[in-house]
This record gives sequence, C-alpha cells and structure tokens, in this order.
Amino acid sequence: MPLRSVVLGCGAYLPRRIVTNEELATRVDTTDEWIVQRTGIKQRHVAAEGEFTSDLALAAARDAVAHAGIGVDEIDLVIVATATPDNTFPATATRVQHKLGMARGFAFDVQAVCSGFVYALGVADNFIKSGQVKTAVVIGAETFSRILDWTDRQTCVLFGDGAGAVVLRGEEASERGILSTHLHSDGDNYDLLYVDGGPSSTGTVGHLRMEGRKVFVHAVQRLAEVVEEALSAQQLTARDIDWLVPHQANKRIIDGVGKKLGLDAAHVVVTVDRHANTSAASIPLALAEAVHDGRIKRGELVLLEAMGGGFTWGSALIRW
Ligand code: ACO
Repeated sequence: MPLRSVVLGCGAYLPRRIVTNEELATRVDTTDEWIVQRTGIKQRHVAAEGEFTSDLALAAARDAVAHAGIGVDEIDLVIVATATPDNTFPATATRVQHKLGMARGFAFDVQAVCSGFVYALGVADNFIKSGQVKTAVVIGAETFSRILDWTDRQTCVLFGDGAGAVVLRGEEASERGILSTHLHSDGDNYDLLYVDGGPSSTGTVGHLRMEGRKVFVHAVQRLAEVVEEALSAQQLTARDIDWLVPHQANKRIIDGVGKKLGLDAAHVVVTVDRHANTSAASIPLALAEAVHDGRIKRGELVLLEAMGGGFTWGSALIRW
C-alpha cells in the first residue's frame, strides 16, 4: 500500500453579508427568476470593505486545522489557490502562514482560477508523496466581488466570495487518501473567460469578462472527459462513486455531469444556490459543508472536478 495524502480536516468561511438576487435586480436589469432558471443561484456572500482574500483564507484554514485536531507547528506547507490575491505579490499564502502563527515551512499561491483548488491539491499531493512535506494546508479563497463589473448583468450575478480549506497528511500504507489527480489546460480559449487587466498588460486590476454560452459548452465537454479519465485510471465505474463534489459554477452544468455519471442527485453536493460561483473556493466550501453535516463519511469515495479560465480543468479522486 503506497504513501497517500489523507484528508484530516475541512474548514470553511463565508463573509457575513448576503446579496440576494432581488437586491441585484435593483442594480442591474435582471430578475430572480432569470438567475435561478439559468444558474440555480439564489444568493451570494460578499466580503466586507477591508476584508481581504487572506482574511477569508485564514478563517477557513483555522477551521480546518481545528477540525483536523493538529497543532500549527505540525504544518509544513500552505497553498492558497486564488485568482484574487490581496496584492500582486507577495503570495497571499505567505500572509496566511504568518497569521496562522507558523514559524517554519513554506507557502505559495496557485493560480488556475476555478480549477485552482484541484490544481493545489495535486501540487500538495505530489509534495507529500515525494516525502518533502508531511502535513499541508490547501486553501481555496476568493474575493471575486472585487473583479466584477457590477454594471454587467451577464457576469455580476454569477459569482460570490468565500474560502474553504483542507488539511492533508502523508500516511504510509493507507487505503484512505488522494487516489489520483488529473490536471489539464489549453490556452486556446484564453479570451472566452479572462480579466481585462493585470500588472503586465494594463497596470490595472481589471474586470472579469466572459462569453458565457461558449464557456458552458466547453465546461460540459471537458468535465465529462475528466470524470471518465479519473474513473478509468482507477478501473472504477460511476457506480463506485459515493459523492460527486463539483466546482459550483452553474446548477445546469452540475446536473449535466451528474446525469452523465448516472449519479442519484442526492449524491451530488450542491452549494451554488447559496454561494454562487466562488471560483477556487467552491469545492472546499462544498466539501466542508458535506463533511461537517455528516453526509461524507470515512471510507467513502469522493470525486472532485472543476473547470475554469485558461481553460484549466481537472479532477481529484479521494478515499475519505
Ligand atoms: N438577467 C437577465 N437577462 C440576462 C442576464 C441577466 N443576468 N444575463 C444575460 N441575459 C440575457 C442576455 O442578454 C440574452 O438576451 P438576448 O437573448 O436578448 O440577447 C439572454 O439573456 C440569453 O443570454 P445567454 O448568455 O445566451 O444565456 P445562457 O442561457 O447562455 O445563460 C449563463 C448565461 C448563465 C452565463 C450561461 O451561459 C453559463 O452559465 N455559462 C457558464 C459560465 C460559467 O459558469 N462561468 C464560470 C466560470 S467557468 C466555470 O466555472 C465552469
């Protein structure tokens, strides 16, 4: 039995302020009915003024560390998956490392937009399997509210702020843990989902721009492929999956993938209705919810999948 990265604990944090579809309809030409019908989203959380991605990440990390029952001195690595860092540099993860009270180890950010958490899990898993790291905190944290064009009804209704985290520990001869990660990207569709600013291009932060319908078509196709890839690599079938925890972009995309797998909808974890799309934070937020409310249990097989700007896409298969 190999050395595996076992999930010891999960954590979550959502900003206090909730913005409903009705409230958005007072700002842009939209309706609750349109948003719910096209996306399944009913509300989203929005960070307070002065509340940064690192604050969200820190709260989620503390929650995960407490759930794992470990000491901060045991942590070797912190990775923050984010497309909305506090500053262009340094990495938001270094601020989280400091505020957690860590006196050693290393920390860095991973940027793969909505696929960021799955990418970060893959990176942490490889550090653990190579023996360089024993215990890692992997966080997905975003303040997309800061990069939205709040006058663009096609994008501003879709996203929210939040953070989720997991604690991973390398355990020898473990049946539990991360069984596989599969990561992909293709820059051919860079312009279908991007931010029209950046330090090197415009010197501004910029706003999120998206051709939603085209992104939708790619998402369904790529996610179906990556799920198939994860299952066949482990000689499993969809029937072996206990829980699908997908990136939460749109209820219709989630339903499409669940249906393709033939999974009972009751075994697909859905938070998009309450969180909207929190990009890299969406999977660890959904995981934390389903673990803390007792749905996901030890020994069960959990499949994560995500797709985002780049495009990037990927999966992680975990024996809980
Ligand atoms: N309220 C009311 N009407 C709207 C709104 C809104 N908020 N936004 C767009 N419309 C209008 C459009 O202007 C258009 O009007 P028209 O027919 O008069 O031109 C009409 O609604 C239909 O617009 P479409 O964009 O074709 O609507 P669609 O059914 O494709 O839904 C959506 C749009 C929800 C963005 C969908 O394409 C989608 O979810 N795409 C995936 C995008 C996504 O999830 N991206 C996240 C990052 S990538 C990822 O995480 C997978």
